[in-house]
Parts: sequence; structure tokens; C-alpha cells
Amino acid sequence: MTEQHAQPHERRILGTELLWAFGVSVLIAAILSMVVFTALTRDINPPSNVERIDPKTLHLSGEFAEQNLGTTVTRDGGITVRIITTQFMFAPRCLVVPEGRRVTLRFATPDVIHGILITGTNVNTMVVPGFVAQVYSEFTHSGDLLMPCHEYCGLGHSEMWATVRVVPESEFKPDPDGRVACAQR
Ligand code: CUA
Repeated sequence: MTEQHAQPHERRILGTELLWAFGVSVLIAAILSMVVFTALTRDINPPSNVERIDPKTLHLSGEFAEQNLGTTVTRDGGITVRIITTQFMFAPRCLVVPEGRRVTLRFATPDVIHGILITGTNVNTMVVPGFVAQVYSEFTHSGDLLMPCHEYCGLGHSEMWATVRVVPESEFKPDPDGRVACAQR
């Protein structure tokens, strides 16, 4: 190849490369803005709450002791649900949340890694021994939602699920201690 022919050829390569670089930059920018957009508007983001808890004693005292599990409404109206995920069940197995209000969900496990999601919502997190997994959600429709474990955690994994009962605001009635539990059916 002579010098005369090499030049336009290389210019064409450069042109193609720049075109690809531009295309890929647009794609990356689109993906990043989607991540930021869903994080800000729909609460969809990786759980990043680095909060330690001793897995050996979490059920004995403190926040995740049996009497504190389930839904609690504080005096200022904040709603927190505390759940233990363990081989192979959730405690409690059913929880009540109101429709259309921001809810804080806090999970902890005394044994192995579990993964939980609530169908049709933004809630999807791993629950790692030694850490509290915290997520926020707002449930838009009343009705029962399935909350399965989706991280293989042992032989009983497929039996591990719970119910999230979303009730209209008018049916969400905390007792004097601010507790709300599923009615026995
Ligand atoms: Cu817990 Cu799978």
C-alpha cells in the first residue's frame, strides 16, 4: 500500500472508532441516568445500609427480640416492620402494612444468607448474617403480596415465604402500643 492510499484508509478507521465510542458513551449515559432516575423516583437502588448486629444474640434481646417483631407505628407516625429471616421461615409469617404510606422494613438473620423480595414492589434485598438489611417502600394497592426467599439457603428454601398484607389506611389500626399484626384467619 502506498502512502497516498494509507491516509484515507486510516481516517476511515478513526471515523468508525469515534462513531462506536460515541454510541457506547450514549448507552452508558442512558443506563446511568436510568439508575439515578429509578433510585430517586421509585426507591429502586442497591441496599447500602451498613449496620452491624450480632447474629448469635439478635433474637434474645434488643430490636429483633420476639416482642418487637412485626409492624410498629411510632408516635410521630413512622412505620417500621422488623422481620427475622431464618432457616426456613420468616418471623412473623404475616405482616400488615398500610396502603400509600412510606414503610421502613428491617431484616436480620441469625443463620445463613437469605434473599427476600415482595412481589410487584421495589423490595428486593439480601439478608446477610451480621448486618441489618433496611429498605423502604410504599405499597400502592391493598391485598396480599407474597414475600418468598429467593436465595438458596438450604433444603427447606422452597418452603420459606411470608405474606405481606396491604390494607387500606382506614383498616390500619395500631393497638395502644403501636403494634399491628395479621388477624388470625
Ligand atoms: Cu431462606 Cu432461601
